[in-house]
Amino acid sequence: MNKIIEIIGVEFDLYFYPNLTLCWQTNSTDKKIHIKIFFIISSKQTSTPLPFEFFSKKIKLSPSSYNLVPLPRKKTGKSVIYFQKIINIKNLKMSVHNNSKVKKITTRVLQNMKNEGIKISMLTAYDYSTASLLDKAGIDVILVGDSAANVMAGFETTLPMTLDAMIYHASSVVRAVNRAMVVVDLPFGTYQGNSKKALFSAIRIMKETGANAIKIEGGKEVAESVSRILTAGIPVMGHLGLTPQSINKFGTYAVRATSESEAQKLISDALHLEATGLFGLVLEKIPAKLGRDIAKKLSIPVIGIGAGKHVDGQVLVIHDMLGITQEFSPRFLRRYHNLSDEIQNSVKQYIKDVKDGDFPNEKEQY
Ligand code: KIV
Repeated sequence: MNKIIEIIGVEFDLYFYPNLTLCWQTNSTDKKIHIKIFFIISSKQTSTPLPFEFFSKKIKLSPSSYNLVPLPRKKTGKSVIYFQKIINIKNLKMSVHNNSKVKKITTRVLQNMKNEGIKISMLTAYDYSTASLLDKAGIDVILVGDSAANVMAGFETTLPMTLDAMIYHASSVVRAVNRAMVVVDLPFGTYQGNSKKALFSAIRIMKETGANAIKIEGGKEVAESVSRILTAGIPVMGHLGLTPQSINKFGTYAVRATSESEAQKLISDALHLEATGLFGLVLEKIPAKLGRDIAKKLSIPVIGIGAGKHVDGQVLVIHDMLGITQEFSPRFLRRYHNLSDEIQNSVKQYIKDVKDGDFPNEKEQY
């Protein structure tokens, strides 16, 4: 798909660096095919290394091969020449800059993405290393889900998850992330039936983790909590459909809202919560047609997990999509990898190498 690409200004010395390495990030607010490349030519021709070590991935462009069009000169203290070139990004791989100049994904960016019809990508992460990989790969939103209770802690449900544990996971994630928006689940028992407690829990998450928003499960019954949390300036994402924290009420993880009355209730909850001030909504395991209808009715972004393709974005649990977990296999899950086998094979090889005295070898010791 074509998107606007915004190049972060690159400083280089023409004499020493005829080939230019560029790094860019997508600017999701605009769909036009448009790339701006700024060549800032230093007045002094020095061999100062380029700041390319900041870039997680690099691409080499030869300026001449792109037939760049010079734009009017601007004065910035250094001698600066602006070039502009329209490039179709299909031919280019996206790369993400990891210094502070990266444009952070905010609620406003997500809203613009919905308005522009650009799909939002969201995955869960619960630790520093995984979050760092997701962010470098260019994910839009990282959800520190209370699914950590299942995939990190081995509980059968998400109910045992505590606020302290969520804060531990979320602060690890936030330390790794430069670009993605980080949303954190309020765990079971930290908001239900008490909006003051909900506000207190949300404030703890924001203060102690540095995350950007919280997510809360439920319909009209949590509207008062949503409203109170919003008074503190904390963005809130909703979660309807299959809400795992209510598993004991429903008794099953089956598809939700298949009956007309349930579907109507879900729509009414979604509209009510949107009016309360949610910036986004997760819909879990509902018929695709209902997902599409809700995404159309709501002006805020609707992210689906098992809610069909016509919502504004998709979310999956990272352990499921990478195939670390094997036993969980709902229809909506696409596995992009089989890490379970790969990890086990590597560990088996390691065990064998240790037992055989093959590891470490001469080169792997001091
Ligand atoms: O906790 C979680 O991972 C979630 C997603 C399934 C949306 O809420």
